[in-house]
Amino acid sequence: MIWNLGSINADNFYLLPHLPGPGETISARDFRQGLGGKGANMSVAAARAGTRVMHVGALGADGGWALERLLEYGVETAHITLMEGVTGHANIAVDLEGENNIVIFPGTNHEITEEMIGAALSEASSGDWLMMQNETNGQRFAAQTAKTLGLKLAYAAAPFDAEAVKAIIEQIDLLVLNEVEAAQLRAATGGELRQLPVDDIVVTLGAGGCEWVSNKAHRIESYPAYHAQAVDTTGAGDTFTGYLVAGLDRGMTMPQAIDLAMRAGALMVTRHGTADVIPDLKEIRDHDFQR
Ligand code: RIB
Ligand code: NA
Repeated sequence: MIWNLGSINADNFYLLPHLPGPGETISARDFRQGLGGKGANMSVAAARAGTRVMHVGALGADGGWALERLLEYGVETAHITLMEGVTGHANIAVDLEGENNIVIFPGTNHEITEEMIGAALSEASSGDWLMMQNETNGQRFAAQTAKTLGLKLAYAAAPFDAEAVKAIIEQIDLLVLNEVEAAQLRAATGGELRQLPVDDIVVTLGAGGCEWVSNKAHRIESYPAYHAQAVDTTGAGDTFTGYLVAGLDRGMTMPQAIDLAMRAGALMVTRHGTADVIPDLKEIRDHDFQR
């Protein structure tokens, strides 16, 4: 089972002819709203991958719809707290080439208390996963608690913050990075990924596929990407991470879980949107993937 200390956002999507420059006003060609937040995306992906996932997070009084939708997508919500304040949200601009930029307001994603995290994790069993990314508060406490309880810790260092990664690096079992985040982490630690005290590091490289740095086996393995016609990469990294951890939780080997996660990520970039359009296992099975 996966416990996910995760952000939940209302995503506002604007499809634009090009991304705005400073001082520029642009009229969007399309607008849609949906469920997002890196945490929620990862929870939905893990549930779609067929594993049990308990989301630990917070919503404002305006966020009841998000809770309903997570439930509808198969995510367990008993440890999502509805509180005063504004639910996190993201304004996502996507251009016709699929490039994006995102502004987020954390809102209640930054109001998660140690009591809330402790109450959730006290129900976890040794051997379960704790999954996190960097859009909530409480990560240090959660990482320490997870370790005392014998949980495995998977962390996606997004949005990247070197101090946030360094603060929990000793506790991380599986670290997921994209290419830019990997370069930022190398710069921040002054060394190579294989020198970090983390058993497994998976680096996604977009069209370059993905790399698994196994520090236990002193080995680096590369996996070529599946071909995909990208229209919107938003949420693809979160989908990859959710599928990866779910695969491992379901007993797959790392190469098997990486392969499944790459397929899920490749399908995801062909779709506009985030949590609402994350593919399920059947869609992945039915799709003809080409390298
Ligand atoms: O990674 C994509 C996510 O980033 C979006 O769903 C948005 O909410 C932001 O958190
Ligand atoms: Na997308």
